[in-house]
Amino acid sequence: MFPFIRSDLLQFQAYQSHPSGLSSHLDGLDRLDTNENPLDLPVPLKQTLARAYVEDMQANRYPDGNHGSLKEAIASYVNSSAPNHSTLNASTIDSTHISIGNGSDELIRSILIATCLGQEGAILVANPTFSMYAITATTLGIPVVSVHRFEHDFAIDIAAAEAQLSCHQSPPIRVIFVVHPNSPTANALSLAELQWLRQIPEEILVVIDEAYFEFSQTSLINELDQHHNWIILRTLSKAFRLASHRVGYAIAHPELIKTLEKIRLPYNLSTFSLAAAQLVITHHQELLDNIPEIIAERKRLWDLLHCHPRITVWPSHANFLFLKLQGVNAYLNDQQLSILCQTLRDRGTLVRQINHGIRITIGTAAENQRTYSRLVLVHQ
Ligand SMILES: Cc1ncc(COP(=O)(O)O)c(C=O)c1O
Repeated sequence: MFPFIRSDLLQFQAYQSHPSGLSSHLDGLDRLDTNENPLDLPVPLKQTLARAYVEDMQANRYPDGNHGSLKEAIASYVNSSAPNHSTLNASTIDSTHISIGNGSDELIRSILIATCLGQEGAILVANPTFSMYAITATTLGIPVVSVHRFEHDFAIDIAAAEAQLSCHQSPPIRVIFVVHPNSPTANALSLAELQWLRQIPEEILVVIDEAYFEFSQTSLINELDQHHNWIILRTLSKAFRLASHRVGYAIAHPELIKTLEKIRLPYNLSTFSLAAAQLVITHHQELLDNIPEIIAERKRLWDLLHCHPRITVWPSHANFLFLKLQGVNAYLNDQQLSILCQTLRDRGTLVRQINHGIRITIGTAAENQRTYSRLVLVHQ
């Protein structure tokens, strides 16, 4: 219709977080489809934020475009939460290692712009994985090279990845995206995958997306200073209960961070979101208090599903489970899964249909119990 629009965009659909028309009818549903924390911010913290909006924030002024104090708070959280941090000699991360995005989605886009735009590079992903890497790359005209994961444990086919790295030439692969633990399959990087990433040559950027770090407590942060071609992404949308405010951060070598900062829009985060992020980082101990409960619930739901004769559920290091449902002779196909998810939704639970299976976020104990009961009713 509009001749001035890039022709390659014509075939795309806008990203929809929920099936069309549903977004305005979510009240009362158990929302276990987007891997958020089931708990809202505690009311006293919301009140602090509301008071700060009235008393300290000026709506007519642009936000702090440098994110100075939030970067410092995040750096200090990153150091104090690093696995085995008590055995490290000194804090290794400071604000020069941090860039803050409007969700880590924005950082993914900035990384793609900084590395591959203009036919300079392609990206490598191992499917199934977080879809935004490929979606965002494609909207920027960046080629996406995919290799598969082995279904029994969803480990990356490293031989296939190596073959692609050496033979994909025009353009060459410049960025590898991995999630640790992966979404939607919830497996952490294996030792073999870690060894592979450690020897990726410095001409290739390795993005390690640790969106679910607080649930897995496994991180590559302690190795960052040995690998200047690594960048770690984190988000406040999951464990920190801040999905509505859209705050994510990247941790990397200061030179890499400087490049991301060049690309970032000057006021990419509102004053209110910056204040909310500062508040949750300051109160991280209190907010992360419910993580052990989510992990215990994960085990409880996993045990229940695992006992079901026609459900296959994979081990999880995150706040969600990935499962496939057995039909008469084979796993349910996408059409059957779509009907099942619709039926679950009609009964009050939203789950995510993905990669020929379903992904269920761990909710509150009551939500998980309802989800299990509904699932066994619709999948007898
Ligand atoms: C692996 C992974 N990375 C990044 C994101 C996006 O996070 P944000 O809300 O910070 O954009 C998600 C969201 O589901 C995710 O699963």
